[in-house]
Amino acid sequence: RTKIAQLYADAEAFGGSQVTVAGWVKSVRDMKNFGFVTLNDGSCFRDLQVVMNRDALENYDEIAHQNVSAALVCTGTVKLTPEAQQPFELTAESIVVEGPSAPDYPLQKKRATVEFLRTQQHLRPRTNLFRAVFRVRSVAAAAIHSFFQDRGFVYVNTPIITTSDCEGAGEMFHVTTLDMENPPRTDAGAIDWSQDFFGKPASLTVSGQLNAENFAMAFGDVYTFGPTFRAENSNTTRHAAEFWMIEPEIAFADLDDDMDLAEDMLKYVIRTVMDKCPDELNMLNRFVDKGLLERLEHVASSDFARVTYTDAIKILEDAVDAGHHFDYPVSWGIDLQTEHERFLTEEHFRRPTFVTDYPVEIKAFYMRLNDDGRTVAAADCLVPGIGEIVGGSQREERLDVLERRISELGMDPEQYKYYCDLRRFGTCKHAGFGLGFERLVMYLTGVGNIRDVLPHPRTVGNAEF
Ligand code: 4AD
Ligand code: MG
Repeated sequence: RTKIAQLYADAEAFGGSQVTVAGWVKSVRDMKNFGFVTLNDGSCFRDLQVVMNRDALENYDEIAHQNVSAALVCTGTVKLTPEAQQPFELTAESIVVEGPSAPDYPLQKKRATVEFLRTQQHLRPRTNLFRAVFRVRSVAAAAIHSFFQDRGFVYVNTPIITTSDCEGAGEMFHVTTLDMENPPRTDAGAIDWSQDFFGKPASLTVSGQLNAENFAMAFGDVYTFGPTFRAENSNTTRHAAEFWMIEPEIAFADLDDDMDLAEDMLKYVIRTVMDKCPDELNMLNRFVDKGLLERLEHVASSDFARVTYTDAIKILEDAVDAGHHFDYPVSWGIDLQTEHERFLTEEHFRRPTFVTDYPVEIKAFYMRLNDDGRTVAAADCLVPGIGEIVGGSQREERLDVLERRISELGMDPEQYKYYCDLRRFGTCKHAGFGLGFERLVMYLTGVGNIRDVLPHPRTVGNAEF
């Protein structure tokens, strides 16, 4: 069995030889005595043109009547066609219908909208759009691993079930073995969690960071790459309930090291995808986002902007003075909204931008308090078209400051005793970040909705199949 990708990789070598290719029909054209089948086997973005002659094929009529998406096994001779659009075609000697496709196949040739495709989750991977997006996703995932592996980072798998809320936002999906319709109760009437499998309320993780920190204090440089879950009821184009996050954690490193790492990683992934997925990117550039290739090239070869939160607020306030309207009023202390993030990265800096040193009140408990006492060493990376793609920080390595923060926030110190304990045994400055993988894939493909870069999206009201 030969893959179409192999044929394109070395057409000359296959010229004149017999091969067998198996794939799905994209179109059939019957010209009576001869015809064409366009086949895609998923091995690459390009299709194979199969030429069939009535004389040479005993089941010519059967093939000529196949519907889009029928599964065929084609054997024939590779004919080089240097003068034609495709560099070669397959002259069929036998075609076997492995599985016909019913005439009501919902994705006929006409281009379907992404909204319609979302109702066809089982079939949409067969469209050009999804073939492109999910190969880019796969190549980007591999590039992230090779980026970190080449730099000696250790890949750590962190747990999916946990009892700690890393981000402190209370957006956890709960996991329990209790019958919640009729849970066991204590004498005081509260749910008796001691009878649960975990002995206390457990949830799906929102971030592997706290676990990764343990390993960074042993291996120096580590990263996680796994699914995370957020029960935030935000029905936007950028939020999913289940998404994948890459979280490196680096020891003896500060916020600048952290931003350098994030910038290097993003550029490396962009370069790798440009290198390995030219067909996919060309298609996306033509049909999804006309500025995609130019933007990726520009981002991969220029420095990201860096600005403090305080200066970013000044930029936004100046924009308001100059007549720009924001729905959400700007003042020092606000959590930046998407409209603010997009203004900064799209209108002002016009490139990816790190915003650093946010007010302590709007960030998580583990971020390192700056000397001013009112900001923390955080860095979010904002990109045009999306907004926040990376959220990171230097971690609070001083036990007394960390304990004070935990108690100020009314968090249960018992829950964070291991985390605090790390600060008693060889604590050191360290930092890390979380890259939302789907947001990266959106950025790499120009796709505007997170539902279309997740193989099977879990968003508000959506968990079937
Ligand atoms: O900014 P976040 O919440 O940071 C953390 O979880 C840290 N513990 C990371 C760390 O320092 N190790 O999330 C990190 C990134 C965001 O920048 C965003 O790209 C993505 O995760 N993200 C989401 N992506 C899709 N759907 C959601 N609901 C997301 N929430 C966050
Ligand atoms: Mg964030």
